[in-house]
Amino acid sequence: MKSWGGRFSDSTSPLLERFNASIGFDYKLYKEDIEGSIAHAKMLHKIDILTDSECETIIWALNHIGEQINNGEATFNVQDEDIHMNIESMLIAQIGPLGKKLHTGRSRNDQVALDLKLYTRKSMDEIKKCILSLMRSLLEISKQHIDTIMPGYTHLQRAQPIRLAFHLMAYYEMLKRDLSRFLDLHARMDEMPLGSGALAGVNYQSDRAFLSSELGFKKATENAMDAVSDRDYAIEFCSAGSILMMHLSRFSEELVMWSSSEYKFCEMSDAFTTGSSIMPQKKNPDAAELVRGKTGRVYGNLMGLLTVMKGLPLAYNKDMQEDKEGVFDTSETIILCLEVFNALLNETTFNVGQMRKAAVEGFLNATDFADYLVQKGLPFRESHEVTGKLVAYCIAHQTVLENLPLSVLKQFCSPVETDVYDVLELESVIENKKTYGSTSKASVLHHIQLGEHYVSAFENKPLNQIGGLI
Ligand code: ARG
Repeated sequence: MKSWGGRFSDSTSPLLERFNASIGFDYKLYKEDIEGSIAHAKMLHKIDILTDSECETIIWALNHIGEQINNGEATFNVQDEDIHMNIESMLIAQIGPLGKKLHTGRSRNDQVALDLKLYTRKSMDEIKKCILSLMRSLLEISKQHIDTIMPGYTHLQRAQPIRLAFHLMAYYEMLKRDLSRFLDLHARMDEMPLGSGALAGVNYQSDRAFLSSELGFKKATENAMDAVSDRDYAIEFCSAGSILMMHLSRFSEELVMWSSSEYKFCEMSDAFTTGSSIMPQKKNPDAAELVRGKTGRVYGNLMGLLTVMKGLPLAYNKDMQEDKEGVFDTSETIILCLEVFNALLNETTFNVGQMRKAAVEGFLNATDFADYLVQKGLPFRESHEVTGKLVAYCIAHQTVLENLPLSVLKQFCSPVETDVYDVLELESVIENKKTYGSTSKASVLHHIQLGEHYVSAFENKPLNQIGGLI
């Protein structure tokens, strides 16, 4: 007999049972469900619905069920639909009719709203740790490579020389924003839905402030109907996750390119690459490619959830059961990708000589030559044109600007003097970048220093102590 079976005379079709059940995936919420149920039992005790001993027995049994599930000793069944009713059935099986009191003043609608929120918050705590650890790696590698020079690209064409540290610290900034999106979300979803009932509130003096503090939330939700229908936070979670994955995917793509024979900018360790079953010479960057590939499924989760929610009238509709797999998959994928990518990056060696060679070869000092002519009195458009002609001349003669004798340079532009060779030198091209946030050594070192303060400040703080909008 179903727990809701009172008004039914015929039994449920086994086909519908299979179709309707979510236990196949929402068993992953068992810890959150037990945590919520324990808080609910304490609250029922506080408002005199459960006696001391009833409350104690229920809490003991719930903890026991948690251990049994943990140890793989519990069996779930499809007839009980979902994790909420499976745990309730187990409770009744263990302590008899007393177990039937637990659902007083509660609906599965506020129960599931709470469970998924708790799950998402816990997952964000894990994600925060992983992001900070990757940020920490970027700071360390940037310090090691503060003097490594490489080409910076636009349109995938060599553009201007930069420090490898500068390039890596660009990703540091992206990750910092990714983290802040999760922190903002954490602060925005810091409202506890339990006690909202099915949609309209409940007929008991449920102490929702007590529940909020028991469960670690700042406050109770303001509107019961919103509380049971809200999945904004799950959408935001998938959205923040998608943006994070987009960043990891771009980074992965660069590592894939850089490790190719065409670039030879870096080499990934044997531990994080794979071989080919047919081509003995191959060393494939599977880890980076998979991070790039898994970005697709996280985007898919976001689109899936947005689409599930778009036409739903208030309040709860069963469509919302489809919210969970996307959230679980997003959480698991992000955490795994962050861990793998961090390890991969730490085991990648950068080919300093090859990077420098590419920076020397690409006329990356052409802009600086044009700026030099501006200093000598030419309008920039004119100096741009003169420099372009010189580059064409160098290509035709298979040489580079800094190797042209002064006499040739003067043929193109008479005000050029010998001081031009200092300007054209790779290090000075970089150090001539004077703006805040540039690739100059002082600027990148300053950025790394800021980064170290930032990461140290947040590494050991749980999310609810950080607050949003940082
Ligand atoms: N398994 C359901 C879900 O995940 C729990 C809520 C069921 N509520 C209901 N009114 N049928 O959405």
